[in-house]
Amino acid sequence: MADTDDLKETHDYHLTVPQQAEPFPLKGCHALDWGMQNRLSKIFSPATGRTVMLAVDHGYFMGPTTGLERIDVTINPLLKFADTLMCTRGVLRALTPATFTKGISLRVSGGPSILKELSDERIAVDIEDALRLNVSAMAVQVFIGGEHETQSVHNMTRLVDQGLRYGLPVLGVTAVGKELTRDAKYMRLATRICAELGATFVKTYYVAKGFETVTASCPVPIVIAGGKKQPEADALTMAYQAIQQGAAGVDMGRNIFQSNAPAAMIQAVGKVVHEGFTPREAYEFYQDLSSGS
Ligand code: 5RP
Repeated sequence: MADTDDLKETHDYHLTVPQQAEPFPLKGCHALDWGMQNRLSKIFSPATGRTVMLAVDHGYFMGPTTGLERIDVTINPLLKFADTLMCTRGVLRALTPATFTKGISLRVSGGPSILKELSDERIAVDIEDALRLNVSAMAVQVFIGGEHETQSVHNMTRLVDQGLRYGLPVLGVTAVGKELTRDAKYMRLATRICAELGATFVKTYYVAKGFETVTASCPVPIVIAGGKKQPEADALTMAYQAIQQGAAGVDMGRNIFQSNAPAAMIQAVGKVVHEGFTPREAYEFYQDLSSGS
């Protein structure tokens, strides 16, 4: 028989306290379902509303690019400094420790290699597998203005429908082909199309002129790709400017894993994104860490 001797008889229903419901802090995401918001909270730090995503999915069309030849050796030691890992399911299953409990943004589109027309992608992962892998978002490339524009948009909208059914966010990745202009006008167009058609958040490139108009006109969070490797000071400046101009974080690859000191670089990026370090402060931090002082 249950021991009820010590059962407390008094109750406090806090009758004068209205029920609290914290508003979900991420831009444009307040109306999403709980599971979706919970997954987004694994990507975007609840403390700052921002994210440092470590992008290592390049192999899905480029093969073993510089710095990603041995992900177990070069990338896994960086995981503790990232808020989220962006990778393929191949790398996730084969190389990523299942003890990693932060966000995973799973690359779910693919098809052509660098030897072919890149915009000719298809959905390359069943949502059932994304759920089995317990990922936090599905990332899909969208080629606005590209040869297979409609097909890539359709890939995204199908994933958005499936994601809404199961509470899995979709990251629309705006792809800039060789022939497309990388300016604010193009980025406004591409990011807005992704958001209008249901992407939960959008990845794009930073542009030096008018980036604040890109973030202002996109109703959901924007994260920036790092792009080609630059000197560390320049990459930190780019991250700083993007954040100051409304980005919710970075999804950075080569500027971290091709750095001379990847662990120092990802931590310096984290200082910019989460702690508002200026480019100078962040670069000094990078230098101190990389020189071991
Ligand atoms: C590939 C991607 C990459 O994740 C993206 O380009 C980020 O990496 P990097 O910072 O090296 O540009 O989306 O299509």
